[in-house]
Amino acid sequence: SWTTGNVIEEQVAAIREQVGDRRAICGLSGGVDSAVAAALVQKAIGSQLTCVYVDHGLMRKGETEQVEKDFVAATGVQLKVVDAEERFLKALAGVSDPEEKRKIIGREFIRVFEQAQAEIIADQGPAVEFLVQGTLYPDVVESGGGTGTANIKSHHNVGGLPEDLEFKLIEPLRKLFKDEVRMVGQELGLPEEIVQRQPFPGPGLGIRIVGEVTKERLDLLREADAIAREELTAAGLDRDIWQCPVVLLADVRSVGVQGDGRTYGHPIVLRPVSSEDAMTADWSRLPYDVLARISTRITNEVRDVNRVVLDVTSKPPGTIEWE
Ligand code: XMP
Repeated sequence: SWTTGNVIEEQVAAIREQVGDRRAICGLSGGVDSAVAAALVQKAIGSQLTCVYVDHGLMRKGETEQVEKDFVAATGVQLKVVDAEERFLKALAGVSDPEEKRKIIGREFIRVFEQAQAEIIADQGPAVEFLVQGTLYPDVVESGGGTGTANIKSHHNVGGLPEDLEFKLIEPLRKLFKDEVRMVGQELGLPEEIVQRQPFPGPGLGIRIVGEVTKERLDLLREADAIAREELTAAGLDRDIWQCPVVLLADVRSVGVQGDGRTYGHPIVLRPVSSEDAMTADWSRLPYDVLARISTRITNEVRDVNRVVLDVTSKPPGTIEWE
C-alpha cells in the first residue's frame, strides 16, 4: 500500500544502488520539488550530494535565508550558495520587455549554475556523475514519457538545462503528484514553510515589476509582498488561495495624499487566485477586511507606494503573472 514511509524507503534504496560511491549535484530553487528531491537524495547518500543554490537577487523576503538556514538545518545537506545578485541586475539593466527579461534570467542562471557545477567537479573529482531533478509525474506525462539521462524538457523552470548535459539523472519524484511530494517532504522533516510553499515563478520578482528591474524597486516590492503574505497567513487563507502575486507597476504613477502632502507614487497590484493546476484560474474572493489591512499596511509602510489595487481577472483571459 502507498505510504510516504514506503516511498522514502524504496527511493533511498534505489538511489544508493544507482549512485554507489559516486557523487551527485542538485540545484535548489527554493521550491517544494527540488527541496524534497534533495532531501530524499541526501537521506540516501549524505555527503556524496552537494546542492547548489543560485541567489539571483529576485527572491522574496526571507526566501534565501530559508534555504540557507532552515533547509540546511533540517537536512544537514552540503550547500553551495552563489551570490549572483549583482550579475543578474547588471544583465537586466535597462530591460522592460517581459520575454527579454525571462531570456536574460534563464541565460544567466544556466551560466552561474554551470560554473558552480564546474567548481564542484574541480573540487571533488570526476565522480560527480549525477544530477538530481525534482521532476513530478505531471511533468513526465506532459513531456511525453521518460528519459533517464540528459536532455529533458526545460518545462517551466528557469531556462531549463543545457543541450549537452552529460549527467545521469536522479528523479526520485517521477511517480508522485504535488500533494504526495508535500507529504514526503513533511515525513522527511522539512520546514512547513518549504513544504507548503505556493508556486513561485523561476524568474522571481523580475517578472513582477512592470518596467525595468532595479535593486531599489526589488526592495520595495519585497516589502509589499512580505506584508501581503504576512496578512494572508495571519488570516488563515494560505490553503484557500493557489498563489498571490504582488506586482509593482513601476512605470505607472498616480497622485495620492499622504501625511502632509501630495504624493506621486506607484501602485501595487494584488493578484490572489484560486486554481487546480494553474492552467486556468479564478480571482479569489478575499474577505474585504483582509484586503483593507493589506492595503493600509502597504501604503503606510512601503515608501513610494500610494495605492493598492486588486486584480479581478480570471485566467483566461489574464495569465496569473503580469508578465
Ligand atoms: P501564468 O502567468 O502563465 O502562470 O498564468 C502559470 C503558473 O506558472 C508560474 N510561472 C512560472 N513558473 N517559471 C516558473 O517556474 C516561469 O517562467 C513562470 N511563469 C509563470 C506562475 O507563477 C503560475 O503558478
